[in-house]
Amino acid sequence: MTSGSTPLGARAGRILSGIQPTGNLHLGNYLGAIRNWVALQNDFECLFCIVDLHAITVWQDPKELIRNTREVAAGMIAAGVDPVANALFVQSHVPGHAQLAWVFNCVARIGWLNRMTQFKDKAGKNREAASVGLYVYPNLMAADILVYKATHVPVGEDQKQHLELARDIAQKFNIDFGREVFPLPEPVIRGPGMRVMSLRDGQKKMSKSDESDYSRIAMTDSRDTIALKIQKARTDPNPLPSDIAGLEGRPEAANLVNICAALSDRTAEDILKEIGGWQFSQFKTQLTEVAVSLLGPINAEMARLMNDPAELDRILARGAERAGAIAEAVLKEVYGVVGFLPRR
Ligand code: TYM
Repeated sequence: MTSGSTPLGARAGRILSGIQPTGNLHLGNYLGAIRNWVALQNDFECLFCIVDLHAITVWQDPKELIRNTREVAAGMIAAGVDPVANALFVQSHVPGHAQLAWVFNCVARIGWLNRMTQFKDKAGKNREAASVGLYVYPNLMAADILVYKATHVPVGEDQKQHLELARDIAQKFNIDFGREVFPLPEPVIRGPGMRVMSLRDGQKKMSKSDESDYSRIAMTDSRDTIALKIQKARTDPNPLPSDIAGLEGRPEAANLVNICAALSDRTAEDILKEIGGWQFSQFKTQLTEVAVSLLGPINAEMARLMNDPAELDRILARGAERAGAIAEAVLKEVYGVVGFLPRR
């Protein structure tokens, strides 16, 4: 693979990251993940995966899933991911992910999975009714990363625990078989957008599955919708503070300031110096301008790309071919190490 200004041999490592095609691609996905991918894509060899196998751990309407898969591809490209220099592909197109996940189901311990907070959150009170796939979700995620021997994984903060599990699996595999097969992948979690919170509740993360559409700014939202959602965002009755200490105990204010900082590539301190003493209504007008000027062009480009699904499918097919070649070689090595009789 070649890309940008840095030749492959000189790259800092290999990146794998993923995103679920579960609809409602939002500002958290953009600020917590996609924007970092764009920033890193010239310095690393990158594989960006649309994780449809993960998506079906909870029910997905089949037609919607296809549409959402293309929409994520369009969102990534519109946001600046270069699909020629990097492999942009769909997880189910590369069988190595599911194959390695099975091996990892036999490496990971039940106690490890029992500690995963995402399973507890998503399964809710009725755990018995959750899919088995949801339970072993982190093993598949480890396989996504390690089937490419990726060294770095840029994600939002919510994925930290999953990354720790991937490292534990890599380490246990290496120890069990007495071979340094897998590197221990490093999480790359950075920037003020690493945890974008809901616009309706500053204590909850912005999420694709929140019932309220007003909780998130979607990457497909029009200018008017963005303005309306920011206008309706929950706040408190006090004016904005002029320093970080003044955000203490004010999660909604902190969230809006952090979003503004992330969108305008400034620090929260810097923003607060400017807006200290303002009423929320004035700040919201400014935040809307910042959000619209950044997301507007992405939104327009996404719509253009979605109008040509055949071209998106071609891009994804090329990505799967490149990713598949790496995954196949790693899987062959793993099968050999585990002691599976080679097929002649
Ligand atoms: P997913 O689809 O929920 O989210 C995709 C990326 O967006 C980040 N993100 C956020 N960042 C900041 N604030 C938020 N409110 C917010 N919401 C989401 C996520 O951290 C993520 O980086 N399990 C993963 C998908 C996955 C994956 C992988 C990621 C599957 N295999 C391998 C990395 C490597 C997930 O559900 O992401």
